[in-house]
Amino acid sequence: MNEKIIALQNEITEKLSATTDLSELENIRVATLGKKGSVTALLKGMKDLSPEERKSFGAEVNSLKELVTRKIEEKIKELKEKEIQAEIEAMPLFDITTPANLQRGSYHPITLVQRQCETIFKSMGFAVIDYPEIVTDYECFEALNIPKHHPARDMQDTYYLDNGQLLKSHTSAAQNAILKKYGKDLMEKGMPIKAIFPGRCFRNEATDACHENTFFQMEGVMVDKDISISNLIFFMKTMLSEVFRKDIKVRLRPGFFPFVEPGFELDISCLICGGDGCPSCKQSGWLELCPCGMIHPNVLSEGGIDPEEYTGFAFGLGLTRLAMMKYGVKDIRNLNSGSLKAMSQFTDDE
Ligand code: PHE
Repeated sequence: MNEKIIALQNEITEKLSATTDLSELENIRVATLGKKGSVTALLKGMKDLSPEERKSFGAEVNSLKELVTRKIEEKIKELKEKEIQAEIEAMPLFDITTPANLQRGSYHPITLVQRQCETIFKSMGFAVIDYPEIVTDYECFEALNIPKHHPARDMQDTYYLDNGQLLKSHTSAAQNAILKKYGKDLMEKGMPIKAIFPGRCFRNEATDACHENTFFQMEGVMVDKDISISNLIFFMKTMLSEVFRKDIKVRLRPGFFPFVEPGFELDISCLICGGDGCPSCKQSGWLELCPCGMIHPNVLSEGGIDPEEYTGFAFGLGLTRLAMMKYGVKDIRNLNSGSLKAMSQFTDDE
């Protein structure tokens, strides 16, 4: 190889690898490949050579030109990448496009009381079970000792689908399936069924401050040998005292539900006046909170459990009502309003 070419190649390569910025690189490009550049000058000088010399010299200068062109391109790429990397590193760690004063999300008051109740019942050995919102007439009524055309159905008018199924009007609709699924297995092992099943319920209601067509309940059942009303009262009183964080008195009044016998309305001592009587409790000192009762023998046998041997209680806690009481929500319609302003002010006090 021609010595001149070798010397030039070394010189250019050295300069290129020493360059650290793009404008300097552009200067090198002009000084080598530009019109008056050193490589261009070699090409131009070829005209003074003999034809034989020209051939080999020409090939060598051309490969030098290619080499320099390629090295410059590589260097451009390398320096651009470095530039971007430096820009990224210089960026602040937080996202400057995030709007200021971003509000934190919050739980809905019903979710809050539901979770509190679940925690309390779980600590007392109850399983929490999820159940569909669309159920059959059998699950919602017939298995619960409410035959077709029974007047008790009038209290729970709901929304029917074209296929005959319906939106569940109460969480009791899960009772039959739960007794069937877990009953036999647990009874054989000599263990009780203890389950709660919270869920959304629907009724065809005219809405006002106290009524909604969509609301939440939390059903609970316990079945074993020798279960009595005292067990029911114990669990309800314990749970409510935990939820309200004070000792709550409860009382039972007779109430009719075809799937319990005897059936009750459970009242709690008024949270506002403590039982002395005030406008909130209509001067009675009591607030109606939770229908309940001892599971009807027909419901047990429909669930595959022998009513001669086993008894159980069931309750249908109104979660929506409980949330309203606990958080002082006056109008039930606020709960489904989707208003973040109204719903974001509640926090878990655990
Ligand atoms: N399912 C009944 C209702 O929604 C409440 C209830 C549940 C009553 C369990 C007794 C026992 O009206």
